[in-house]
Amino acid sequence: MMAHRSPVGLVFIGDGSFAADTTNATLRYLPPGVGSVDGTTLGRMLETLRSVLQFREIQLDPVERRLARTANVDDLRAMAKRRLPGGVFDYIDGAAEDERTLVRNSAGFADIEFVPRVLRDVSAIDTTATVLGRATPLPLILSPTGFGRIADPQGELAVARAAGRAGLPYTLSTMSTRSIEEVAAAGSSVAENARHWFQVYVWKDRGLVRELLDRARAAGYESIMITVDTAVLGRRERDVRRGFTLPPKIGLDTIVDGAIHPSWTWAFVRADPIRFANVVGSGTDDGSSAIDLASHVNAQFDQALSWADIDWFRSIWDGPIVIKGIQCVDDARLAAESGVQAIALSNHGGRQLDSAPSPIELVAPVRDAIGDVVELYCDGGVRRGSDIVKAVALGADAAMIGRAYFYALGAAGERGVDWVLDFLDAGVRQTMALIGAKTIKDIGPDLVRLRHRAP
Ligand code: FNR
Repeated sequence: MMAHRSPVGLVFIGDGSFAADTTNATLRYLPPGVGSVDGTTLGRMLETLRSVLQFREIQLDPVERRLARTANVDDLRAMAKRRLPGGVFDYIDGAAEDERTLVRNSAGFADIEFVPRVLRDVSAIDTTATVLGRATPLPLILSPTGFGRIADPQGELAVARAAGRAGLPYTLSTMSTRSIEEVAAAGSSVAENARHWFQVYVWKDRGLVRELLDRARAAGYESIMITVDTAVLGRRERDVRRGFTLPPKIGLDTIVDGAIHPSWTWAFVRADPIRFANVVGSGTDDGSSAIDLASHVNAQFDQALSWADIDWFRSIWDGPIVIKGIQCVDDARLAAESGVQAIALSNHGGRQLDSAPSPIELVAPVRDAIGDVVELYCDGGVRRGSDIVKAVALGADAAMIGRAYFYALGAAGERGVDWVLDFLDAGVRQTMALIGAKTIKDIGPDLVRLRHRAP
């Protein structure tokens, strides 16, 4: 152990231990490797520190403060987990059975790597894509997610406004907690050309389905998206364990959960009761009393749905139709033959059939099988701009996101959704610059390959 007496009167020991300062009769600690310090050195040290010391601006707004510390979708997820009651977070985050499909959806993207090209002048990147025949600023669509208001009191209105500002199509779920008309007004309040699509679950009561489509048409919805992977509800075991219902039932465990998430609870009790806003007063379950999703779906949805019904939809809806939930090449061919305008490869974010294929792995074979006539979207596991670029490289016209924006809504409300859409936009631009693609058309299969796995 080496002791030093410095000219300024401090005693330093350079091995990380304490030493007595005999002049001032105090004990001082010094990290390992530090020796004596004279006046000149001390001056230099202070100058160095002054040049690097930078404190972040103090942010008084708690939402801005949270977002300033956010780097990616995983951070939003962690934040949503802290802010939302456990049952609500699990409803959003969870998936069917062993959640294998949920994990594989994202892992499918990890299995793809880029083949970057350099020296291609990427000084001006253009991310404009085409979706349902119209230009869109990014090859991205917001997927339908039910129950928006359990994450934030504004629910689907917040998502519609954020999508409108970003110029992206937002698909409103049949099971939304804001109505078709409210959402159209919210989107249009921020952007004249806001694009609204309406997702259809096909109920046994076709009169009700037809009514919803009439309302969507009257409210200016551009397209319908028919979800076909939900003949019965997948077994979501997190929800089974908690006895999750909509609205969440108040029992002892919910009271405890609510007490440790006071901001959510306060917002929840202050707002109007949560309902399935599209069917209030229609005679079907609207959430006036707590319902569990499995019984609702199994009782109301039409298990007899078949390809013939797509013709029925074509007879009552003259706009574009997207089929969501295609999970193999043969069904993609049938969908293309049925005359729809777009196919969304999707396993419902792993929430329906566990051990379903991950959509990103289907993009290339389906594109090969159906050609270019029908648009193709990839839905499930998209968490970064680079994921969107991978989907496009393999042949998708656009990627779709569900949880990415739902976590954002739970973490930071409408500003969270703005944040995640900006984050994805920036990620697409950065990836394009780094792989040498100036425009969306430049993103081809030559820029990706399957990652080599060790045998
Ligand atoms: C969904 N999804 C969904 N799909 C649909 O057609 N109608 C719906 O009402 C819902 N509701 C819903 C709620 C929640 C909380 C989630 C997470 C998902 C599925 C959704 O549209 C999309 O297919 C997946 O979310 C895509 O996977 P990622 O992006 O969440 O990984």
